Amino acid sequence: MKIVAGNWKMHLSTRESVALARGVMLAVRGKTTVPQIILCPSFTALSEVHKVMVRSRVMMGAQDLFWETAGAYTGEISSRQLKDVGCSYVIVGHSERRHQLGETDEMVAKKTAAAIAAGLTPIVCVGETTSERQEAEQQTVVKRQVKAALAGLHLTSKEMILFAYEPVWAIGSGHPASPTDAVEMHALIRKTAMDAGLKQKQIAVLYGGSVEKSNAYSFLREPEVDGVLVGGASIKLGEFEQIVKAAADVQA
Ligand code: PGA
Repeated sequence: MKIVAGNWKMHLSTRESVALARGVMLAVRGKTTVPQIILCPSFTALSEVHKVMVRSRVMMGAQDLFWETAGAYTGEISSRQLKDVGCSYVIVGHSERRHQLGETDEMVAKKTAAAIAAGLTPIVCVGETTSERQEAEQQTVVKRQVKAALAGLHLTSKEMILFAYEPVWAIGSGHPASPTDAVEMHALIRKTAMDAGLKQKQIAVLYGGSVEKSNAYSFLREPEVDGVLVGGASIKLGEFEQIVKAAADVQA
């Protein structure tokens, strides 16, 4: 089954988030072939969005978490709190956090481990910057990020990790990677994770970065691409519906 995840970032109010979630659920109601859809609203909207998603096939994720389970950490949100409001997934190490908020590989590793320990499936974001690609360092950088996220992690056979290959230059730029580049990097991510001890069925690799309705199919039709992580286009219901449809078409 392909995966279509929507990262709503800091764009929507609670009311807008609930309306969008309802719209997505309505779009897939009664359909037999539907990808796994994961919606990631802001923290402030999680509770209300979850209320309308109960008994739906659509799942909910958060956009970040802190690695401690509880305590005096002003402003932070724990895996336990995310479970409490109905999250099944959590985005970890998004490039906006790595590059604008100083999140390091080590922090990403702690967050990944905390998510797994709480029974949340992490969506670990990796990807190179423009200059790293210009220097042909993308493979070295992404390999390092994947290895670091998995350091010291032990998964049971039922647990899995989603990786999102999101080249920094492709995010929000309107210039996605080519499907060929994505396939190459996805294979590298999968191999690196398997070398670190994960089984094939414990790994899914999504592509993210300027995914839109016009290009979604070209990524999703690649067997190496397990799904897409969509930012800007995920808050436009019509666009997101078309991306979901592209994933369903590939599955049919
Ligand atoms: P974008 O964002 O689809 O707007 O490029 C993707 C992401 O940041 O996850």
